[in-house]
Amino acid sequence: MKIVFSLGGSILAPDEIDPSFLEEVAEFLRELTQRHKVYVVVGGGKIARKYQQAARKLDASDELLDWLGIYATRLNALLLSSAIGKRANRQIPQTVAEAIAQAKSKEIVVMGGTDPKHSTDAVAAQLAETVGADLLINASNIDGVYNKDPKKFSDATLIEEMSADELLTLVEGIPQSPGNYALMDKMAVESIIRSKVKTIILHGHDLENLKDVINGESFTGTVIN
Ligand code: UTP
Repeated sequence: MKIVFSLGGSILAPDEIDPSFLEEVAEFLRELTQRHKVYVVVGGGKIARKYQQAARKLDASDELLDWLGIYATRLNALLLSSAIGKRANRQIPQTVAEAIAQAKSKEIVVMGGTDPKHSTDAVAAQLAETVGADLLINASNIDGVYNKDPKKFSDATLIEEMSADELLTLVEGIPQSPGNYALMDKMAVESIIRSKVKTIILHGHDLENLKDVINGESFTGTVIN
């Protein structure tokens, strides 16, 4: 299969970077290359937010905030690619086209953001659309899509399956700005609607759960059809 991961920065580079978890992710990805072509788009996480918060206080433009975020995602991508080793690219692609070109000689291609005005989820969805991926996995720090905010409501339940159109309606109701693309941004969902790629939203910390998805076993998360 061709698998595209959108790996949240919150997972890979939270407050303190955990090298042993990075190595576990790297090993998980290396193993996948025995049977699959793998693309990983890495998010900005805490470091992106720190730079964006500082720049906001300096009255920076939204475009500058986005570029700070993009550089943070590329920094995280370089860290992951170096943890993976020689099967991954060392030159971080700046566009989806560059990532596809690098995939000719590398088993795993790792990248971050591309241009302002969207999130790395949109980059991953665009990459999945362009390469005709079989699976797009959005792994961040939430278990999937809930019927209401699980931070506010203790009786919130995880939605196991929903359509991409339903997801679009949901994200359209959430305000979005640089550094704040909760769940997924509109551009990502619009690309998923076009490509019809099977998309799964799940927690990125549980690598066993991720393996279950790829092996077609039961897992915790939300399937977007
Ligand atoms: P992320 O895509 O990581 O944003 O990029 P996020 O969804 O807020 O964070 P995660 O998923 O928890 O890691 C960080 C920021 O970088 C800018 C945006 O401002 C985004 O919020 N960015 C990123 C872009 O402008 N373009 C890109 O292609 C990627």
